[in-house]
Amino acid sequence: MIYGVLLPQVKEVTARMIFDSRGNPTLQATVLTAEATGSADAPSGASTGKYEAVELRDGGQAYHGKGVSRAIENVRKISDAIKGMEITDQKKIDDAIIKADGTPNKANFGANATVAVSLAISRTAAHATGKELFDYLNPSAMRLPIPMMNIINGGKHAGSGLAIQEFMIVPVGAKSFSEAMQMGSETYHTLKELVEDKYGKAAAGVGDEGGFAPPIKKARDALDLIMKAIDKSGYSNMMKISLDCAASSFYVKKKYKIDGRSTSTKKLLELYLGITNDYPIFSIEDPFDEEDFKSFAELNKAGKCRIVGDDLTVTNVEKIQKAINMGSINTLLLKVNQIGTLSEAMDAAMLCRNNRCDVIVSHRSGETCDTFIADLAVALDCGMIKSGAPCRSERLSKYNRLLEIESLLGTKAVYGLPG
Ligand code: PGA
Ligand code: ZN
Repeated sequence: MIYGVLLPQVKEVTARMIFDSRGNPTLQATVLTAEATGSADAPSGASTGKYEAVELRDGGQAYHGKGVSRAIENVRKISDAIKGMEITDQKKIDDAIIKADGTPNKANFGANATVAVSLAISRTAAHATGKELFDYLNPSAMRLPIPMMNIINGGKHAGSGLAIQEFMIVPVGAKSFSEAMQMGSETYHTLKELVEDKYGKAAAGVGDEGGFAPPIKKARDALDLIMKAIDKSGYSNMMKISLDCAASSFYVKKKYKIDGRSTSTKKLLELYLGITNDYPIFSIEDPFDEEDFKSFAELNKAGKCRIVGDDLTVTNVEKIQKAINMGSINTLLLKVNQIGTLSEAMDAAMLCRNNRCDVIVSHRSGETCDTFIADLAVALDCGMIKSGAPCRSERLSKYNRLLEIESLLGTKAVYGLPG
């Protein structure tokens, strides 16, 4: 379609309540232009970083305080602030949203309101220009990411008492994204058999991100079980393991409650070093409390594996810059709703790129079937995505969208880490 000089403009943004994968309210924003429309959903974390942008909830009795009617109201204000703006002017629109909110952390409108609108703008622009979202965001995008699949859930995502929140399998040896998914799916189902054999059928229920949550108490027991599943599936040497410790969630009174013990920072560092010696560890995310940039840096200096910042860095350029300056991380976990707009998340990715820090695009533990992050991972050319286990549709919707993108790209598609 030819628009001449006049590009589609924002006519109105609306929002309504939907439910996320935990059955809690969240919001879906819809952008209207004369030519096209597009929607996006706000995800929601459980082990949220202290410095994340504010998720606005109603409080009170309804939905246990988790209602989003105030955030939905605020979408009307956002709509007024960006009305008439050109839909492809993502940066200008996001800047206008930030200005209208007027706080450093989206405390006024709520980052759940701003993120849903910001992503919906981008999707509407893709529709208006007749492009696939990843292609609209980056016309030279062709890289499919390594799926980091969380197959044992602990921490705040499960009730097992296992301190470390995520045990992921990482099919680094796959030749393509679809092969990576096959490796992940087969290993996941082998793990299910092993869990049932060892802990009984009732133990094969899943946590918030679709991974199993058997009554394992110690990190090494979880790792041994996963190693067995990898070996039995025939993928030794092709599959690595990643951890998201989300360590702030088991940091109590200056000690870490892990493996049934209260552990000092120094001993925890030793525990990680031991694990990296004994298992094929690809990355460790949030190994220490979210304030402890120094201990992150010590582990990073050991050079054993990727050290990933999530709660530490909250997709915030100031925090990321500090983490880079201090040598705390070599990889960023990028979550758009931690900062509240797509442009700010893109700035975070750009800062990383300019400082040789890699990026993993990530879902939240509370998700919807919105597939935006799949396109974003391809567009950012970052080569890694974290979207939970190959189980539950809110997790698979992203992986399935990536399978679709893989076929859309055809022979142009490449897989894995860049360079
Ligand atoms: P969250 O967990 O979405 O509950 O914050 C995901 C993560 O810590 O990476
Ligand atoms: Zn995390």
